[in-house]
Amino acid sequence: MKTKAKDEIKDAILGYTANVDDLDAENRILRETVTHLKDELSKFQKNPLIIAEVKDVLDNGVVLKLTNGNEFLVDVSPGCTEKIHPGDFVLAEQKNLTIIRKIPSSKSFNVERYVIIEKPDTKFTDIGGLEQQAEEIKEVIELPLLKPELFKKVGIEPPKGILLHGPPGTGKTLLAKAVASSTNSTFIEVVASELVQKFIGEGAKQIKEIFQLAREKAPSVIFIDELDALAAKRIDIGTSGEREVQRTFMQLLAEIDGFKPLGNVKIIGCTNRKDILDPAILRPGRLDRLIEVPIPNEAGRRDIFKIHTKRMTLEKVDVDKVIKKMENFSGAEIRAVATEAGYFAIRANRTKVKEDDMLKAVEKVRQEEEFEEEYKDIFG
Ligand SMILES: Nc1ncnc2c1ncn2[C@@H]1O[C@H](COP(=O)(O)OP(=O)(O)O)[C@@H](O)[C@H]1O
Ligand SMILES: [Mg+2]
Repeated sequence: MKTKAKDEIKDAILGYTANVDDLDAENRILRETVTHLKDELSKFQKNPLIIAEVKDVLDNGVVLKLTNGNEFLVDVSPGCTEKIHPGDFVLAEQKNLTIIRKIPSSKSFNVERYVIIEKPDTKFTDIGGLEQQAEEIKEVIELPLLKPELFKKVGIEPPKGILLHGPPGTGKTLLAKAVASSTNSTFIEVVASELVQKFIGEGAKQIKEIFQLAREKAPSVIFIDELDALAAKRIDIGTSGEREVQRTFMQLLAEIDGFKPLGNVKIIGCTNRKDILDPAILRPGRLDRLIEVPIPNEAGRRDIFKIHTKRMTLEKVDVDKVIKKMENFSGAEIRAVATEAGYFAIRANRTKVKEDDMLKAVEKVRQEEEFEEEYKDIFG
């Protein structure tokens, strides 16, 4: 009897203990839920953070520049452990602009949206009549990228960059793409006039970012088209727009000076106005190798014509006769002739292209060229 009572008491105690354990567990879960909900709530209450650029780091704070151009002296939150440098992009609290954290540099590439970045597959065999220019580019761009050790052994420094100059449509972009392709490099195409127009007050920063991007994606070729928009001799730099272009140009020179000739970033500048370039860009150590890309001669025209009619079926076409008629045509115009001739055939319900289609196409392209020449000043 005694033992029975004891057992009952024992059971009761065990029962209570189990109960307490259960309640404890439940309590813990509820408390966790409350903290979780509090967290969520504070997340919703928090204002979004602002992205700003660090202009300067001083003893008594950091100078931040907002996207609207206003500058503020702010503190860095103790929670932000990374070191802040001028030029960094950071997230700051909206109210007092305290810096919360740094944005990783690779995330700040605005330029990726504006420049063309590609791995082109243009081959040197797609280019007609520019054998000499192709050879020279291979020597000064391709060889140092593929065999830097050769240059070290011989003890010479290859050019950091080259300047391709000549009339529009003659194959300058093609050459740059072909060398990027043959060296398996990233091709970064920047149109200088767009850079100058799109980024008022931002040009210099964009240049910096483009070069940083190029280093990150190296080996790479930076192709600056219409370089004259950025690097023209300036007679007077009175207006703020002119000063802005000047600043952007200075940044470009600084970037070019700042890297080693045997690094795996190369610059190819391009212009059809070499005459107006500021000589500073052509100084030794900059774009000091000039390569002229002229209007093709007869043999060049034949090469280019062959390239662009490769996949067409020509019927009784005296190629020499057509080529003679295309005097002074650029590569782009020769391609236009091939395309137009194809259209004449299509309109006549044919799939084969006849000599007459070609001759009509030559006339059409020539008229367009003359029209453009006549109204060049109006249409730019
Ligand atoms: N030498 C050439 N050989 C073959 N095609 C050419 C040549 N030059 C120009 N073209 C054709 O004209 C187009 C425009 O040429 P591009 O290289 O952009 O000229 P540029 O950069 O000198 O203004 C090319 O995509 C190509 O189809
Ligand atoms: Mg071009």
